Amino acid sequence: MTTWSALARDTRTRLSAAGIGSAEAEARWILEHVGAPAAATVAGDRGEVPARAAARAAVLTDRRAAGEPLQYVLGEWSFAGLDLFVDRRVLIPRPETEVVAEVAVGEAVRLGERTGRADPWAGAATTYRVADLGTGSGAIALALACSLPDAEVWATDVSPDALAVARANLAGAGTPSARVRLASGSWFHALPADLRGTFLLVVSNPPYIAESELDGLPAEVRDHEPVGALVGGTRGTEAVEEIVAGAPGWLRPDGALVCEIAPHQAAGMVRLARRSGFADVSVRPDLAGLDRVLVARRS
Ligand SMILES: C[S@@+](CC[C@H](N)C(=O)[O-])C[C@H]1O[C@@H](n2cnc3c(N)ncnc32)[C@H](O)[C@@H]1O
Repeated sequence: MTTWSALARDTRTRLSAAGIGSAEAEARWILEHVGAPAAATVAGDRGEVPARAAARAAVLTDRRAAGEPLQYVLGEWSFAGLDLFVDRRVLIPRPETEVVAEVAVGEAVRLGERTGRADPWAGAATTYRVADLGTGSGAIALALACSLPDAEVWATDVSPDALAVARANLAGAGTPSARVRLASGSWFHALPADLRGTFLLVVSNPPYIAESELDGLPAEVRDHEPVGALVGGTRGTEAVEEIVAGAPGWLRPDGALVCEIAPHQAAGMVRLARRSGFADVSVRPDLAGLDRVLVARRS
């Protein structure tokens, strides 16, 4: 038998020895995950750890020490206030993508739509449509469904594995998920043709890393996250280009595209959006102040 304080110390030591910089915080996450009492008290908690919790903590610590991202080890991560199930079939949702979702909600509000939680008794009635292309875990789609109570949200992906994870997250997200439709296929091909020209917003965080950049990524990303969620092609911009060029045909005349990009792609993608017929194009910064979110308005 071990105590919580001893397990906390051992976990921290093992993570530090494996070169994990944030060993203290990550040890706390792992212990909380297996049922430790409130984090603040673990250090001094002499209570005994149930055998099952100790065994589970050992497995999780082994995986983390071997370099697997903490989010996959825990099997869950928070995005825009949602607790999402994540595993190696999907990209780990990033804080910069929370900015993408916020900007998209801001665009809906600018266009006169209301935000806030839906009346739980209101059913799944919707008055307009938005799309999240390349939904992965369903992060953006669910954030939009939760913040925009009148929106029908189309969540697409080309990866059946990703759609399975998104489906699991919809199942755990309560009433807003009743307004989310999952669709399989490559970018706009996933959407029914008769919905052309009907979307208020097209939102996406597509893969935007060039093939040649993959080797330079941190091992934690390169060796664990799905390549199809990271690499956009030989130039890196192929997926963004397809979405920017295709979006005007799927948006309403007053609609807007909100798309995550790499900062060095900003100038080129602004030019492409203007050439594709968008009237008002800008780029918004992420939390680090880097050009990250392309906003292209049709009018
Ligand atoms: C960068 S990840 C974003 C995942 C999620 N939206 C997020 O922000 O956490 C890109 C997603 O696009 C999907 N994807 C890649 N190629 C695609 C394609 N041709 N059509 C649709 N989705 C694609 C990947 O499977 C992956 O889930």
